[in-house]
Amino acid sequence: MLNRRLTINGVERHIITTGDTMLSSVLREDLGLTGTKIGCGQGACGACSVLLDGKVVRSCITRMSRVKDGAEILTVEGVGVPKNMHPVQLAWIVHGGAQCGFCTPGFIVSAKALLDNNPDPSREQVRDWFQKHNNVCRCTGYKPLVDAVLDAAAVVRGEKSSADLIFKIPQSGRIWGSRIPRPTAVAKVTGTLDYGADLGVKMPKDTLYCKAVMAKVSHADIKNIDITEAEKMPGVVKVVTHKDVKGKNRINGLAMAGNKGDGWDRPILNDEKVFQCGDVLAIVCADTFYNAERAAEKVAVDLEQLPEYMNAPAAMAEDAMEIHPGTPNVYYEQKIEKGPDTEEIFAKADVVVEGDFRTSRQPHLPIEPDVGFAYIDDDGGLVIHSKSVGLQLHAAMIADGLGVKADKLHMVQNPAGGTFGYKFSPTMEALVGVCAMATGRPCFLGFSYTEHQHNTGKRSPFWTHVRYAAQQDGKLLAMETDWSVDHGPYSEFGDLLTIRGAQYIGAGYDWPAIRGIGRTVCTNHCYGAAFRGYGAPESEFPSEILMDELAEKLGMDPFDLRFKNIYRKGSTTPTGQSPEVFSLEEIFTKMRPRYDQARQQAKADSTAEVKRAVGLALGVYAAGLDGPDTSEADAELMEDGSVTIYNCWQDHGQGADSGTLGTAHETLRPLGLRPDQINLVMNDTRLAPNSGPSGGSRSQVMTGQAIVNACEQLLAAMKKDDGSYRSYDEMVKDGKDLRYFGTWSAPCNPCDEKGQGTPFCCYMYGLFLATVAVEVATGKTTVEKMVCVTDIGKVNNYLVVDGQIYGGMAQGVGLALSEDYEDLKKHATMRGAGIPSIKDIPDDMEIVYVETPRADGPHGASGVGEMPLTAPHCAIINGIYQAVGARIHELPATADKVL
Ligand code: FES
Ligand code: FES
Repeated sequence: MLNRRLTINGVERHIITTGDTMLSSVLREDLGLTGTKIGCGQGACGACSVLLDGKVVRSCITRMSRVKDGAEILTVEGVGVPKNMHPVQLAWIVHGGAQCGFCTPGFIVSAKALLDNNPDPSREQVRDWFQKHNNVCRCTGYKPLVDAVLDAAAVVRGEKSSADLIFKIPQSGRIWGSRIPRPTAVAKVTGTLDYGADLGVKMPKDTLYCKAVMAKVSHADIKNIDITEAEKMPGVVKVVTHKDVKGKNRINGLAMAGNKGDGWDRPILNDEKVFQCGDVLAIVCADTFYNAERAAEKVAVDLEQLPEYMNAPAAMAEDAMEIHPGTPNVYYEQKIEKGPDTEEIFAKADVVVEGDFRTSRQPHLPIEPDVGFAYIDDDGGLVIHSKSVGLQLHAAMIADGLGVKADKLHMVQNPAGGTFGYKFSPTMEALVGVCAMATGRPCFLGFSYTEHQHNTGKRSPFWTHVRYAAQQDGKLLAMETDWSVDHGPYSEFGDLLTIRGAQYIGAGYDWPAIRGIGRTVCTNHCYGAAFRGYGAPESEFPSEILMDELAEKLGMDPFDLRFKNIYRKGSTTPTGQSPEVFSLEEIFTKMRPRYDQARQQAKADSTAEVKRAVGLALGVYAAGLDGPDTSEADAELMEDGSVTIYNCWQDHGQGADSGTLGTAHETLRPLGLRPDQINLVMNDTRLAPNSGPSGGSRSQVMTGQAIVNACEQLLAAMKKDDGSYRSYDEMVKDGKDLRYFGTWSAPCNPCDEKGQGTPFCCYMYGLFLATVAVEVATGKTTVEKMVCVTDIGKVNNYLVVDGQIYGGMAQGVGLALSEDYEDLKKHATMRGAGIPSIKDIPDDMEIVYVETPRADGPHGASGVGEMPLTAPHCAIINGIYQAVGARIHELPATADKVL
């Protein structure tokens, strides 16, 4: 045992622990200093950074034996508190440095150490510092973080005051279209916001800590699961298996019409078969996590391995067995037929190009691994807390499987340290639900990063063949497409994703004729989950690379070929819909000088060893789910004159709080409320109505419109004949309702069996430019500059939206060059899976807005989240070809592949 007297955040503490205990455990579990976060748990992400005698250390890999007696430790709680923040914290807020905020405490302490050492760093020195100290952020694209450090440095040097760093509400009182920081920012930068694992540390004494026993193979029959020895281990209360599940033990995959399966293919706890690595076979519930982990090793699983079909072609082979017996491996098909038949057009066309393409199984790589807990409330209801971004949706998907009546199942979203879409699927909700039901006690489950990688869904690879026919002058004539979606073993949302191929291959251009077919394929690799862009980066990769190949064959500049064919009045989308706005000409016009300048610069900067060039790509995506997508929100007048907005606009980290606040404040402007007079009650199914899942960039449009509707009803009730508004007392006196239920449905129709329809009311458009540098000797590619000219309608909050776009483009760099989850060993860690560090992401990123108001968007807004990951990777891949002549058709473009 160790006996240490340490000064922690200026307070002397007496610590008695073992030498092997990690400093992070002492801080979080013994002292309750949960501002220090655990992400990778392996020294790779810096979320756990603290200062030890003034030096940045990663506390998750710092054993207490290395912490000397008398050492001084500073955690984020000691840097500054909400009422007295350090300049770094203030700067982080005003620059939007905290999106999900999970990386933030680690960055804040790291940045403080930098400024203690060097109060006048250059941008490159800041980037070098965060690179050296392994501070990784998945949300922000890093640029706002460098901006924040430089602003904080100016305060430290006395050139600015702290007051200069505080956002000021414009004189008009209007916050719509401003850069007001998100409501959760202060809690995020001071480490006071409790995420799932933080709440886990603070749960009641009788809480059980769970460890999942996961399959290590990808396809097997389960012969036996023996828990006898495990149940005898110290501290074990119960080992839960499929036998303990009271319901049908399947998650409802919500199969669409035409799906050959019934959607009930995903077990909660696997019973008959293992379908993928990471499937859960048993869960040990014990008094401590340590005891649960030891006992889990004693669970004996008898498996008979089956052939593993690890990609779409393998599972489509004639001799492949049905992964789910009774359902063919190809279980859904979607055609596209637009305009006249393409055969004759291709036969007569001046030019034809075609190619085969494959996108990767991109992992989401949130810094916070998956986490959740469940308990039985005083009314006998089952309450599940998780990172869910679809609370009511997930309740509907898991209730029957658990055997719980819908009105007895309550879902709450914890603050989420990033999801980017993986939490559009339920992950551990049903698992913690089974444990709480089987034991009657609160049950907490937190995955290690490797467990997170294996158990949670990934982007589904598309295997695509695309063919273009064009005239010699560049006019596009026809497109033929064939796409296979490797969706892993579980069907949920796989049919919907396959429809995206019909909607987005070739999007942005006016195709007179299209023929194609796509299919969803069941495989044994990781199940497919939504991921930012959901179908767009997969669909627009082949079409945007092929657009460059066509330009080359025609002898045209890729910019000019695109410009000739973009949507203009009279054009229709691949689904035959008239776009809601025609702003692509303006977008291209704004990009033109930037494109010319970037190309000149790249040429000038090229050397024999490092070739530089510019790539371009157009991205299109819709804000919403197909058809009459609907959302709900409530608005209530409170006794103090403030207004409370209730909704389930779930937060991945994108800024659901800001979205709600800005939309409500703008609608309630006649009342003259300050932003702090709008209260937010969000993301608890007991308290707020069903706003639908946060996915497909739908929330700003759908939930935004529901908020507008609720607020307008409230305003109408408050309005007096003389045009003034009733106070709370007057509302009560006049017998007026105080709370109003707002709802909105999109005026849309889903696509038919030929992929034709008007599925969405608001789209988002982005034109991407990337300057790349490729080392000729190694094939290593670096992205040096990115530009995005975009039309996402009127902007609610520039700080939030800038952050979404920087972060999305950074994920595009990862998608293009490094990220994957194909190799179950290599890609099982955050670093192994290719997460970009700060030096992998260009500091030179520019966003240019074209704000065309949307008739169906609240206050003219469309969505944003998916747009920045529609096609930035295509611009990078096109840039690589322009630089060194390497055509990459399979992502990611790793150095060896480029070479
Ligand atoms: S470096 Fe410690 S949690 Fe990632
Ligand atoms: S804000 Fe950095 S990981 Fe989310």
